[in-house]
Amino acid sequence: MYPYNFRLKGNAILGLSLLLFLFASCTKSTHDLSHVNEEKSTTVNNNFPDFGRMISPAEFQSKYPGEKVFKLRQDYPLTMPDDSELPDFLNIPFDEDDHWMEYINAVRDYSFEGMIEVDFVAQENKTRNWYHMPWMHWGPQGSEGFHGLAKEAEIGPYQLGEKQTQAFQTYALGFYNEFAGYTLAQMWKDGNNPDPNATQNPNGFPIGTVIFKLLFTDADESSADYLVNPMTWNAYITPTWNNGLDTGRVVKPMQLIQMDVMVRDPRADKYGTGWVFGTFCYNGKLNEGKEGAGRAENLVPVGIQFGNDPQDTTNFINPYPVTRTIINPNLTQTKINPDSTKLPPQHLGWGGRLDGPVDLNTSSCMSCHATAEFPQIAALVPKEAFIGDTNAMGQLTKLTETDAVAFREYFQNLKCATPYTETATSSDFSLQVSLALGYFTEWKDENVAGHWVNEYERIPTPMHRDGSLKIESTQKE
Ligand code: HEC
Repeated sequence: MYPYNFRLKGNAILGLSLLLFLFASCTKSTHDLSHVNEEKSTTVNNNFPDFGRMISPAEFQSKYPGEKVFKLRQDYPLTMPDDSELPDFLNIPFDEDDHWMEYINAVRDYSFEGMIEVDFVAQENKTRNWYHMPWMHWGPQGSEGFHGLAKEAEIGPYQLGEKQTQAFQTYALGFYNEFAGYTLAQMWKDGNNPDPNATQNPNGFPIGTVIFKLLFTDADESSADYLVNPMTWNAYITPTWNNGLDTGRVVKPMQLIQMDVMVRDPRADKYGTGWVFGTFCYNGKLNEGKEGAGRAENLVPVGIQFGNDPQDTTNFINPYPVTRTIINPNLTQTKINPDSTKLPPQHLGWGGRLDGPVDLNTSSCMSCHATAEFPQIAALVPKEAFIGDTNAMGQLTKLTETDAVAFREYFQNLKCATPYTETATSSDFSLQVSLALGYFTEWKDENVAGHWVNEYERIPTPMHRDGSLKIESTQKE
C-alpha cells in the first residue's frame, strides 16, 4: 500500500515508485518488500489522536448524518521540499506601501487553493499538502471533533464593537505547509521523544514556511454586524469561556471571524525577525451570493507586520468598543489597510501595531509570538499590558507602565529560531509548537507518574493570552 499522499506528491514519488518497480521486477529478491517500506518512510508514521473532545460516536451518527469528523493530517514529510515549490509571493515586496496588500492577498490565495472546494479538509486538498499540529487535543482547551477547533481565548465585552455587550469565545485550527511540515517531521518523528531543537538555531522553520489559522467565534451578527452571511462550522465547545475550564460542552454553530498567517520570508531578516505576520477580518457584507466555505473569501486584509517598531513608543490604545480604525503613521514595520469601506473598524494592538479583531489591543502579533519557547517560561503578555487608565465602560484607554523593562523588551525585535528566555528552547514564533510540547510533557509526566530534573530548572508559565485567571492545566478525565 502506498501512503495516501502518493497522489499529491506527483512526479517525484511517481518516478521513485517506477524506479522501485523496475528494480523490484529485475531482482525478484526477498528484499523487495524492504524497498517499498523505504518509500513509506518518506513521511512520519505516528498515530496521534485526531481530537480531544466530542459527543459519543452513537450520538454523532444519529444527529449529524452527512457531517464529517475531524482527521489530523500528520504524515509530515521527512524530506525538505524542492526550492521550485517555494511560494511565488516571496517575490512581492511585502514592506512597500503599494505592494503589501498584493503580498498578503497572495498568501491568502495560496492558503485557499484546493481548500475551499473540500471545505478545508487538508487530506482532500489536491493542490498542495497542509498539515496540522499534533497534541492540540490535550487538556481542558483541547480540540473538538467536528473540525479540530482548539479552544483559544475569550473575547471581552465590546471588543468586537458597541453592540457586543457579552463576552464570547474563540476556537481555532492551524494549517502548516510542506516546508513547515518538514520541521514538524524533525520534531515529531519519534512520537514519544519530540525534539524541541527542531525549531531552534541552527534549525527552525525553513524559508518558504507558510502557516495559516482560521478563527471561529460563538458571537454572531447580533453582536458584530460584519458577521452577517457567516461561514459557519459546527463545533463542540464550552457554553462560555469560564476561565478556559472544560465545562459541559455543547454543539454550536461557530462563525469565521479572522484568519491569521505567518510566513518565513528571508527578506524579513533585515528587520531582525525573519517572519511576516498578516491578518484578515471577516466581512459578510461583501458576500454577494457566496455559499459554504466559499465565504472564506469575505476575509479582508487588516494588515501586515514584520517587526515590532521598537523605536516607536507612542503610548496609545484604541479602546473598546471602536468605531474607526486609527492608523499610527510612525510605524514602519506594521502596515494597515486604510480602506474603511471594506474593512470593519479595528482596534489593532498597542500603538496601532498589528492585531486582529479577537486579539488584545495592548499586545501585537509579533510581540506575543516572539515569546514562543519550550518550556514556555515567558508570559505571552507582560502584566504591564493590563495596567492603566480605564473609561466609564471599564475599558483600558491608556497604559501607565510602558517604561517597565519587561514591557519594553516585549516590543523589541527577536531573530527567528532564537529563544526569548535564555534558558528555554526557541519554538521559532510558533505558539502551537510550544503548546504541543507543553501538553506532551504534562501527559508524559502523568503517564510515567514521575518527573525529570529539567522540569524543576525551567518552569513554564501558564499560557493565558488575555490576562484571564490561570488555566487549570491538568487533565483529570
Ligand atoms: C497575546 C498573544 C497572541 C497574539 C497577540 C496573537 N497570537 Fe497568534 N497565537 C497565540 C497562541 C497562544 C497560539 C497557539 C494556540 C492557537 O492556535 O490558538 C497562536 C497561534 C497562531 C498561529 C498558528 C501557528 C502557530 O503555531 O502559532 C498563527 C498563524 C498566529 N497565531 C498568527 C497570529 C497573528 C497574525 C496575530 C496578529 C493578528 C496573532 N497571532 C496574535 C497567541 C497570540
